[in-house]
Amino acid sequence: MSETHLPAAAGPAAAGAPPFLRIDAMRMSDVPIVGRIELAAFTSPWSEAAYRHELMANPRSFYYVIRPPAEAESGEAEEADVSHGPVLPPILGYGGYWLLGDEAHIVTIASHPAYRRKALGELLLLHLIGMAREGQVESVTLEVRVGNTPARSLYAKWGFVEVGLRKRYYRDNGEDALLMTLFRVNEDQVWAPMAQRLAHLLAQLDAAHLDAETHF
Ligand SMILES: CC(C)(COP(=O)(O)OP(=O)(O)OC[C@H]1O[C@@H](n2cnc3c(N)ncnc32)[C@H](O)[C@@H]1OP(=O)(O)O)[C@@H](O)C(=O)NCCC(=O)NCCS
Repeated sequence: MSETHLPAAAGPAAAGAPPFLRIDAMRMSDVPIVGRIELAAFTSPWSEAAYRHELMANPRSFYYVIRPPAEAESGEAEEADVSHGPVLPPILGYGGYWLLGDEAHIVTIASHPAYRRKALGELLLLHLIGMAREGQVESVTLEVRVGNTPARSLYAKWGFVEVGLRKRYYRDNGEDALLMTLFRVNEDQVWAPMAQRLAHLLAQLDAAHLDAETHF
């Protein structure tokens, strides 16, 4: 699977620094940090062991992380001093899907809690869809809690429609799951506005957009 890089045209990158954000395949060494975000993001979080199993033993699974370039280069330093921008967490968000024939099923997506509403969720979703398209999928599916307004809004924004309901799907609180599907993603007219938005985000998301006080 290929990687998504920011072009060196916006923000710090324009001053000759490396590209600001990078989306690449999740590594085993990412799992502890992903696990911490997971704990903060979900009421029924996956364990680190579950992620390790996915990365090692599920050939149909594809997971990606957004990280700042210093982390991408060094693979370390949770508190890395990124000289060309604010100190950022090593992972800003992550997501993954299972490739199931002509369908991709998004199994997780989360942005860092301190960096919400900064288009990272959208960047992740569009990246996942784009990567899934390379796997020749025709549709992208997912389940979402009926009460998860941010996620439902994100999916609806990009054309996912409600196709079903699983009653009391979530064991922690008995909440229903909505099934949502993005159809015909293999068709260029469906993908074109997404590709355009993805390119826009990759060009625009820089330190100024992501600066935040809170890290964990
Ligand atoms: C869902 C989630 C990934 C969104 O990430 P984010 O980085 O905050 O979202 P973005 O800034 O990219 O927002 C993109 C769109 O999502 C929707 N959205 C995001 N947060 C929202 C909120 N609090 N209320 C309403 N809509 C919201 C909007 O449609 C938004 O588009 P807009 O900015 O044009 O209004 C994030 O809230 C998250 O990690 N939640 C916890 C984990 C989770 O629930 N994952 C989904 C499991 S199904």
